[in-house]
Amino acid sequence: MTAHFFDTLWISLPVPCLVIDGQSNIAEINPAGEIFMNASAKSLRGAPVWDKLHVNAPLDEAVTRVRRDNSALFVNTVDVGSGEKPPVQCNVQLTTMVDRPDYIMILMEPREIAQKMGRDLKSKSAARSAIGMAEMLAHEIKNPLAGITGAAQLLSMSLSGDDIELTDLIVEESRRVVKLLEQVEQFGNLRPPMRKPVNLHDVLDRAQKSAAVGFAAHMKIKENYDPSLPSTFADSDQLLQVFQNLLKNAAEASDKTGGTIEIRTFYEMSLRVERPDGTRAAVPLQVEIIDDGPGLPDNLAGQVFEPFVSGRDNGTGLGLALVSKIVSEHDGWISVSSAPGRTVFRISLPVAPKDHIT
Ligand SMILES: Nc1ncnc2c1ncn2[C@@H]1O[C@H](COP(=O)(O)OP(=O)(O)OP(=O)(O)O)[C@@H](O)[C@H]1O
Ligand SMILES: [Mg+2]
Repeated sequence: MTAHFFDTLWISLPVPCLVIDGQSNIAEINPAGEIFMNASAKSLRGAPVWDKLHVNAPLDEAVTRVRRDNSALFVNTVDVGSGEKPPVQCNVQLTTMVDRPDYIMILMEPREIAQKMGRDLKSKSAARSAIGMAEMLAHEIKNPLAGITGAAQLLSMSLSGDDIELTDLIVEESRRVVKLLEQVEQFGNLRPPMRKPVNLHDVLDRAQKSAAVGFAAHMKIKENYDPSLPSTFADSDQLLQVFQNLLKNAAEASDKTGGTIEIRTFYEMSLRVERPDGTRAAVPLQVEIIDDGPGLPDNLAGQVFEPFVSGRDNGTGLGLALVSKIVSEHDGWISVSSAPGRTVFRISLPVAPKDHIT
């Protein structure tokens, strides 16, 4: 391929993309990026990126992590604004460049569908109808399915041998569909969190115990806790669901012979996220679930937090969508960085307000 070909490729790339240098100044931006930012490459080159891009997630810190770990990082549902333009909800990918590890490429993919299905779920009627429709369907399919299962069980009583295998198959597969439908219903029914001061380590221990006797029995789980971590302000049952889903994914990503999951907690003062009302909240409590499996499948990497995106044969793709919804309802943020041998899901959460700590 000629250099000209790659120039053309950069110019035609339909996703807004910019490259920043070691000092986080804009080095280059593609035409889709110029349209997105409503400014010319000429006027942007050399400018500090965070002066020009306004985001409601701690992407500056994410950039530091990408540089340090030399890995790609994905953050979903970031509101990205620039100049006078209203912010656009994007999935953001950060990645270092081969041969230029101090340069970082930032891809901002507007979340059109995601906008309908994302965290504004409660207020957006389009989203309500999409999820509502799925819920209604789930409910309606469950009844006839129960009839089919019952009929197959009745039939099996008068059958023998190979024929029973077939009715067993009907029953088994129907149960699988029911399970999937229940997950869809649960996704739609998530109640608003009932937040109280919660010790993160208590919730992590509960998640870890159920993982160790169940889906993660083949894995080694290592704790790396900061015992001085203050309480967070959360619905502990919902938080438990978050950690269980992440542990389950880590266990499922490793092959049957096992692998290691590290659960790490630590404090990082500088992280802030923007709340829906525009105020900024500190999210200093960090929980990382780290596994040494193969990493996110390349074709899914930017989308794993979207509903129904799964890289597994039996996956519904609702696990991380639920995780991301719960975390954002807790004023937190989630990101993932992934390379073969090391996948890190990080959740950043606020500290419980002082008047709630007993
Ligand atoms: N730790 C991980 N390592 C590698 N890939 C992962 C990891 N976590 C998630 N993934 C990928 O992301 C996809 C989406 O995960 P998600 O939890 O949303 O759905 P799922 O696990 O496929 O289904 P469900 O959680 O509903 O059973 C997974 O199918 C898998 O391909
Ligand atoms: Mg999952």
